Amino acid sequence: QIYSNSQLASVAVAKEIADLIKTRQQEGRHVVLGLATGSTPIKVYKELIRLHKEEGLSFSNVYSFNLDEYYPMKANSTQSYVHFMKEQLFDHVDIPKENYFIPDGSLKQEDIAEFCKEYDNNIAALGGIDLQLLGIGGNGHIGFNEPGSLQNTKTRLITLDHSTRASAAGDFSGISRVPKKAITMGVSNIMNAHRVILMAWGEGKSRIVREAVEGPISDQVPASYLQQHSNTTFVIDEPCANEL
Ligand code: GLP
Repeated sequence: QIYSNSQLASVAVAKEIADLIKTRQQEGRHVVLGLATGSTPIKVYKELIRLHKEEGLSFSNVYSFNLDEYYPMKANSTQSYVHFMKEQLFDHVDIPKENYFIPDGSLKQEDIAEFCKEYDNNIAALGGIDLQLLGIGGNGHIGFNEPGSLQNTKTRLITLDHSTRASAAGDFSGISRVPKKAITMGVSNIMNAHRVILMAWGEGKSRIVREAVEGPISDQVPASYLQQHSNTTFVIDEPCANEL
């Protein structure tokens, strides 16, 4: 779906999320969202906050699992994805504190594997992810599943690509301060979601979006795996559609 700008696109994505939440509320059921960080989803979160404040949309039946977190990373650091999610969404809506999950960047290395297993188990115990929001990295990563990530991967500790660390350098005042690793949900967690919405804005993402949508399915462009997912939409703005 190509929108003339990212604001219109974001409002449409937020509406789909809100409709899903409301439908489940009417049925007396919970909903499980997979959430993303980065600059791309910020306008969606803003619109969800507006719907909460102005139209009474409640998040009381929402569970959410974030895709990733840097490692090592303290939750209270301003660069953490915990901080990002609170600032951009959670602190402004009525989602219960115990309902949202974000990979823990402060674990001891030896505890990470067990944590990741539990993260996947928690998703499964709630019935899987109903709707997964995604951005896309300039190298085609989804979450922090960097090129080379296989389709059967689950939540795990990964090593970040140099290009990913370079893009994050601005947030950390220099590439040398960007963590070298991250904990990310795997490709299989994303592929198991019932619905996937990948968003991308601007000309800078047009080449990688073309590769993901029209190129071969390859571990070198992890977003290309989504060609095999039966309920995925790429929501992009006009500049991002330049190369399609
Ligand atoms: C980070 C996140 C990804 C996100 C990507 C793109 O790497 N872990 O989930 O999709 O950045 O970031 P942006 O949305 O700022 O372009």
